[in-house]
Amino acid sequence: MSAHPTPCSRRQFFRGVALATAATASGALLAACAGEEVVAKASKTDIPVGGATIIDGWVIGHPAESEFTAFSTACPHAGGTIDKIEDFQGTTVATCPKHYSRFDVSTGDVVDGPSRKPLTAAKSVSVSGDSVEVTN
Ligand code: FES
Repeated sequence: MSAHPTPCSRRQFFRGVALATAATASGALLAACAGEEVVAKASKTDIPVGGATIIDGWVIGHPAESEFTAFSTACPHAGGTIDKIEDFQGTTVATCPKHYSRFDVSTGDVVDGPSRKPLTAAKSVSVSGDSVEVTN
């Protein structure tokens, strides 16, 4: 093993600079592509406490005062589209019509049916004035 650092030719140096520049540019591009956007919006008054609604591909729940949740309507079981909110044994659930998996609208967890996976949560849910905004 040598005590001296490995010499770097001019060609190697510029190749390294080019790779680093490409990596930085692609990193910046990926960060821009990963930007979050509002994907669904609902009126707070349309979602009673303890209830939920489905809008623009999202289940928006309102489990407690000033608390909202949002989950994709894409069923994790086999790709069905959740299209119903109902009461199931005292729990407000989002139901998939394909094989009747039921998911708790507060947590996205499976309550009943064949799905083994919970619903996919939105990146964030926020309240802006009278609106609930889902960001993903
Ligand atoms: S696809 Fe939703 S329960 Fe099977």
